[in-house]
Amino acid sequence: TDLARIRNFSIVAHIDHGKSTLADRLIQETNTVALRDMKEQMLDSMDIERERGITIKANTVRIDFIAADGLTYVLNLIDTPGHVDFAYEVSRSMRAVEGSLLVVDSTQGVEAQTLANVYQAIDADHEIVPVLNKIDLPASEPDRVREQIEDVIGIDASDALLVSAKTGQGIRETLQAVVDRLPAPRGDIDAPLKAMLVDSWYDSYLGVIVLVRIIDGRLKKGDRVRFMSNNTTHHVDRIGVFRPPMTEIDELGPGEIGFLTASIKQVRDTRVGDTITHEKRGTDKALPGFKPSQPVVFCGLFPVDSALFEDLRDAIDKLALNDASFSFEVESSAALGFGFRCGFLGLLHLEVIRDRIEREYDIDLITTAPSVVYHIHMRDGTMTELHNPADMPDLTHVDHLEEPRIKATILVPDDYLGDVLKLCQDRRGIQMDLTYAGPRAMVVYDLPLNEVVFDFYDRLKSVTKGYASFDYQMIGYREDALVKMSVLVNDEPVDALSMMVHRDRAEARGRAMVEKLKELIPRHMFKIPIQAAIGGKVIARETLSAMRKDVTAKCYGGDATRKKKLLEKQKAGKKKMRQFGKVEIPQSAFINALKMD
Ligand code: GTP
Repeated sequence: TDLARIRNFSIVAHIDHGKSTLADRLIQETNTVALRDMKEQMLDSMDIERERGITIKANTVRIDFIAADGLTYVLNLIDTPGHVDFAYEVSRSMRAVEGSLLVVDSTQGVEAQTLANVYQAIDADHEIVPVLNKIDLPASEPDRVREQIEDVIGIDASDALLVSAKTGQGIRETLQAVVDRLPAPRGDIDAPLKAMLVDSWYDSYLGVIVLVRIIDGRLKKGDRVRFMSNNTTHHVDRIGVFRPPMTEIDELGPGEIGFLTASIKQVRDTRVGDTITHEKRGTDKALPGFKPSQPVVFCGLFPVDSALFEDLRDAIDKLALNDASFSFEVESSAALGFGFRCGFLGLLHLEVIRDRIEREYDIDLITTAPSVVYHIHMRDGTMTELHNPADMPDLTHVDHLEEPRIKATILVPDDYLGDVLKLCQDRRGIQMDLTYAGPRAMVVYDLPLNEVVFDFYDRLKSVTKGYASFDYQMIGYREDALVKMSVLVNDEPVDALSMMVHRDRAEARGRAMVEKLKELIPRHMFKIPIQAAIGGKVIARETLSAMRKDVTAKCYGGDATRKKKLLEKQKAGKKKMRQFGKVEIPQSAFINALKMD
């Protein structure tokens, strides 16, 4: 295709502002797929994404649009994820396109993820076209939102498009604006092949599918190519584009976006940001590489039924095939037996993986306390990374500990500002900035990531009744007074509940933990002490008193079926229990004990 008739773009938006609906509309308008093939939210291909209404895997679609000049343009839309955990995926797909539609819900205005994503687009030198969506709603305030975009983001919004992705209003105008206002890609078809590896994922029929953006040269079916980062060579057996269904073509030229398959077995063998060139007469200049995504949150996943360990291994292997950012290794715990220590990009990523294992592979899991990666500086001058509080070395060898910090940006209506500041302060935050954008405040905090991984987002939503939006980025490591807190139930340490905490918070955290556990652990026939300790020192203690009667006693004998039902229920509950010494702890206790109020 003639370069002048290609436009490559992405859509950036805060969650729920209508990105997927708009993408569907753009596809529909150009008749890329017949209406009957149009599934709801076509770009979100996985069930779990649909259920949670979030987009995880970057996807792409090629649409043909006949513009006002009567010529047909090829528009390549790359879909980007909207959630904080996937910021890295956003940044890499941004590098493959020249412009962005900035979608803002005109009944809401700019939110934290709008900012985070639009800054990434600006970083990638994008031309940005603001789109005010949901103008069909009575609460729509396009003038106010236009002004807000100019004030907060600092880009011209005077010719922002007025769109309803729901009714279709402004959709043609949006496509025309993509053609008129976004630059065409540049590239040299006669130069040696240079293609950017944008994304890759595993498909059970085709193996690894590699999404590429051609910078220079041309890529043909049957070519032998070299991945420059690891110097591996492959035979390209398929080339194609997504319309959205996969459609094979023979060749991709400069400026084009499409996929290739080359009998690659694992996603791990493909590095995002890598340069692909021809094996012979290839380029010698690789594109500037991207940083690989690093897991920042770790936790242990153990099967409730320890006989299912091999099944769990199988499930994890399969999930990892398609997710290079998810790491794992076998872990054995005194209390929980064999399981895996897994690394995630963030809490949502953790939740998504855990849910998929439970649902798609039908394995009930115990999830241990999520932990961030600490840097332990030893007295001998060496540094090690701590992924698991259970591996904390002997303190006599430790000089000091450093923890990861984040820069958190929160947008919140004025009324809730006080609660938000208190929450951040309670989580050891340091205020960096506080500004106003209309009736909303924008607060920026420097926060320890370990205070955010538990339930910060849930708390933020609850204190602001859902009106706050939140985004973060890592800013580095800083020394602080951190200690390992252990939990003992009936004098047995439960390693799955041990965690790193700040020394000043340890006692409060320990107290909250033992009080919670006292409620969460069912009574037994004997008394059970529940303790939190640092080293050998107990910092909080509760005692769960012994049970006197069995559960059926309260049925007053009479009703036999009711009694039977109750016993069955109790038995079913048992399956979700774990034995610790003589004590049975329900699976839910592990999760709930870690939530703080
Ligand atoms: P993520 O995929 O989670 O990032 O969300 P999204 O930005 O893709 O939002 P989505 O397209 O799922 O839309 C969110 C909600 O807004 C859905 O319930 C849509 O039906 C609704 N919606 C989207 N566009 C419009 C619009 O123009 N008008 C109205 N009234 N509702 C809309």
